[in-house]
Amino acid sequence: MGKDFKYDQIGYWSEIKLDIIKEYAAAYSRILSSWSSPEFYHLYIDAFAGAGQHRSKTTGEFVLGSPANALLVNPPFREYHFIDLDEQKVESLERLAGTREDVSIHHGDCNRVLLNEVLPRAKYESYRRALCVLDPYGLHLDWEVIFTIGKMQSVEIFLNFSCCRYESECAFAKAQGCFHCASRANE
Ligand SMILES: C[S@@+](CC[C@H](N)C(=O)[O-])C[C@H]1O[C@@H](n2cnc3c(N)ncnc32)[C@H](O)[C@@H]1O
Repeated sequence: MGKDFKYDQIGYWSEIKLDIIKEYAAAYSRILSSWSSPEFYHLYIDAFAGAGQHRSKTTGEFVLGSPANALLVNPPFREYHFIDLDEQKVESLERLAGTREDVSIHHGDCNRVLLNEVLPRAKYESYRRALCVLDPYGLHLDWEVIFTIGKMQSVEIFLNFSCCRYESECAFAKAQGCFHCASRANE
């Protein structure tokens, strides 16, 4: 990881989001692990994973990110998939995972990685189930991913998005002449 890598700074609202996902993931894993007939194989997927830790804007302290929290869940998920576009964040995730064989780190666009590599591992008919965290900064999530997950019936999503961000990006698209976004921005 480069010397000048700076961890993201996060506001208190993101710390609340992290607490919610942490508690939900723990309950999800506890429930899925407790089933015996049929027995489920459950995966944790973090599509916009980040570096695994951040700096709190409130305290200046390090705060564990969603992938780090997921790795502490007990009982653990059977597989973890962390995806990020940023090379330095991927290196940070690799250090976080260490030698754990249940963790796969993917460097690339999560839309492609999810559709081609990760979601096919969570097939309903194979008694596989997944919790998938989708936490983009902006409009980086393809509708095709949501559409595919909706059809699978085996994947739960946590989609975090900023209404203001969507509004401003739609307004920008309107100025650029995008008809679809322009009609949304006028609603
Ligand atoms: C909001 S941060 C994720 C924070 C993390 N979920 C947490 O709470 O600890 C969004 C991350 O998505 C990554 N990213 C942006 N576009 C992406 C894409 N198309 N595919 C994968 N990662 C992407 C960014 O590099 C950034 O690290």
